[in-house]
Amino acid sequence: MTPDLALEPVTPRLGARLTGIDLKQPISVSLAAALRAALAERLVLFLPGQFLDIPALKRATAAFGPLLRVPYIAPSPEDPDVVAVLKEADETRISTFGGDWHSDFSFLAEPPGGSLLQAVDLPPVGGDTLWADQATAWATLPDDLRALVAGRRAIQTGAPYGVTHAPAADTATSRSIRIARGDPEADRERAHPAVRRHPDSGRAALFLNPIYTIRLDGMSEAESAPVLARLYAHMTRPEFCCRHRWRPGDLVIWDNRMTLHFAVNDYDGHRRLLWRTTFAGEAPIPA
Ligand code: SIN
Repeated sequence: MTPDLALEPVTPRLGARLTGIDLKQPISVSLAAALRAALAERLVLFLPGQFLDIPALKRATAAFGPLLRVPYIAPSPEDPDVVAVLKEADETRISTFGGDWHSDFSFLAEPPGGSLLQAVDLPPVGGDTLWADQATAWATLPDDLRALVAGRRAIQTGAPYGVTHAPAADTATSRSIRIARGDPEADRERAHPAVRRHPDSGRAALFLNPIYTIRLDGMSEAESAPVLARLYAHMTRPEFCCRHRWRPGDLVIWDNRMTLHFAVNDYDGHRRLLWRTTFAGEAPIPA
C-alpha cells in the first residue's frame, strides 16, 4: 500500500514541506514510490530535521533514480557520488556555486532528473535557495512567446566548462568547489525540446536555461537573445518561485526537469556547506 505523506504546500503550486518520515530508516518500495509521486506533483520537497549522513543521503537519492556523478565539478573527497557545496568564511566577494538561475546540466544528452541537498554547516542567516516552477511558467506564458517556443528546440551547451562561451577568469567561483573549464567537448551543441513532458506526471514545462541555452533552434543567437530575455523574465517571476531559509538538518529534494534554482550569495564572512547528490534523468521528452 502506498503511504499517505504529510505534505504541506509552501506556495499554491510549488514546493511542499514533508514531515513524519525519517530517511535514516530503510526506505520501502512503497515509500519510495510515494516520494517520487510527491516530487512529480510539488517539484520541491523540504524535509526538516533529517541530518542524513552520506550513506543515508545516497540511499535516499536512490529512491528517486540511479545516482549520477555530474561532470566538471570535482566530487567531495569523502565520496565520489557527493558534491560538497562549500563556501568558506574567508571566501568573500566571489560568485557562488549555482548563483544564477539555472537547471543542472541541461546540455547533457540525459540531463539529471533531480538533486538532494543536505544542510551540514549554515551561516546564521542568509544563503537561502530559490526554485522557480517551469510548469506554471509554461501554462501562463503569453500567447506570442508560446507560439515561438511550442514545438521548437533550444540549443544547449556546457558554456561555463567549454572554450567558446567560457566566463571570464575573474568570475571563478569559490576555491572550495573545483570546476573544470576549457573542455572543447563542452561546447558541443545539443538540441533539446524547449517544452518538455515529465515522464511520471505527464505535465509540460519550459526547458530553457539562462546559463546553458545559447539560442532557439532556427534562430541566430542575436535573434534569440531578446526572445530568451523575455522568456527568462517570465520564467523567474516571483509568483512562480519559492524560497527556502535553511535550518540545521534540512534536506531538500528537487525536480531538475521542471524547475530552475538559484543560490543566494549574501552570506560573506560565514561558512556554508551542503552535501549534494544527483539522480539520473532521461532524454527530454517533447511536449
Ligand atoms: C546548486 O546546486 O546549484 C546550489 C544550491 C545551493 O547552494 O543552495
